[in-house]
Amino acid sequence: VIDIRKLYGQSGMFTYDPGFLSTAACQSAITYIDGDKGELLYRGYPIEQLAQNCDYLDTCYLLLNGELPNEGQRTDFHKLVLDHTMVHEQMQFFLRGFRRDAHPMAVLTGLVGAMSAFYHDSTDVTNPEHRHIAAIRLISKMPTLVAMAYKYGKGEPFMYPRNELSYAGNFLRMMFGTPCTDYQVNPVIERALDRIFILHADHEQNASTSTVRLCGSSGTNPFAAIAAGVACLWGPAHGGANEACLNMLEDIQANGGLAKVGEFMEQVKDKNSGVRLMGFGHRVYKNYDPRATLMQETCNEVLAALGLENDPLFALAKKVEQIALEDDYFVQRKLYPNVDFYSGIVQRAIGIPVKLFTGIFALARTVGWIAQLNEQMADPEYKIGRPRQLFTGAATRDVKPANQR
Ligand code: ACO
Repeated sequence: VIDIRKLYGQSGMFTYDPGFLSTAACQSAITYIDGDKGELLYRGYPIEQLAQNCDYLDTCYLLLNGELPNEGQRTDFHKLVLDHTMVHEQMQFFLRGFRRDAHPMAVLTGLVGAMSAFYHDSTDVTNPEHRHIAAIRLISKMPTLVAMAYKYGKGEPFMYPRNELSYAGNFLRMMFGTPCTDYQVNPVIERALDRIFILHADHEQNASTSTVRLCGSSGTNPFAAIAAGVACLWGPAHGGANEACLNMLEDIQANGGLAKVGEFMEQVKDKNSGVRLMGFGHRVYKNYDPRATLMQETCNEVLAALGLENDPLFALAKKVEQIALEDDYFVQRKLYPNVDFYSGIVQRAIGIPVKLFTGIFALARTVGWIAQLNEQMADPEYKIGRPRQLFTGAATRDVKPANQR
């Protein structure tokens, strides 16, 4: 806590808290995390029970409305979302302006932001009806946009959504189907993907969610606020971690594989190397990440269903985890696998390219961003976010003519 009178001659105190390690920026009733117990609850429901008994759209309904849907609400909500999966036809021309080798997150940031230029009747973030329409549009259309970004990068034709399929099944078909093949959804993969979506749906005030809240607090439109969340998620310390983790495993594999894991782990422990163990550690979970436990289970199921139990990257991942769990460096710093450690392996097994991993995360997190934005905007006392700073620059000085500087 700093007395700002000493600094600026103004009255009052403020806290200097880089990285917001101990500053709550809002009240929220959506997601609860107990980092010491390794507990994650959406609206009071343990993530394990939701992953076991509900699907992603049930989870979306819960996050948005505070309660799980009854049968009638469930049917209506599923229909509402699945009926709006088509995107404005003009959006594909906008997409075609990108280079084909553009990173999918660059494309997605642009596409989501551009939705405000296509859907004018849902841009007033202060209007609850506009927010509702924007929420359904975003949740419905994100899978279509992610699949379009993927197909565009491959040079393949876009696949229009098929609304009789499940949310995850429809996404899989838009990703891997072609107009000349009859794509059959594999139920194990469908369930695994749905679980990835559930586990990534919300995570209280992480960097991208705080970005969405801060951006929305200026009264900007919901699509712009969610696009800001997508941009923030892209970073390797946040949503980009599963991509970075898979790249790391592939690097170890290319440089000697299992025999070289020990050497690599020694490098991680050397602070001067600048190498971090991607997919490990978490700002809040200091015991274990409950999502990682569920993801590891899903990983085993998917690899078994696809006959990939002997996948060399999975063997590497297990070895890395085993060394970390037994090594004092990791134990003392409470560094455990986070959700990204296993989700990358599952996605790779499903056939999702590494570059698209963060896009899948963005798709799943969209509902959390919207629920948090809604909560903020529905609070009559919300204020524009405006952090203070601890100024360390020059004191007042006079501008000299250029020839005297
Ligand atoms: N590998 C090696 N050492 C690590 C790692 C890691 N992944 N993470 C933390 N450490 C070490 C730090 O060097 C530091 O050591 P020191 O005390 O000797 O200086 C100590 O552990 C604490 O690290 P911080 O950076 O202070 O921890 P913080 O809580 O700020 O960071 C973070 C959390 C960013 C997630 C970090 O653990 C990290 O970079 N992990 C790798 C990236 C990753 O997997 N991100 C995904 C997060 S989950 C998500 O977004 C879904």
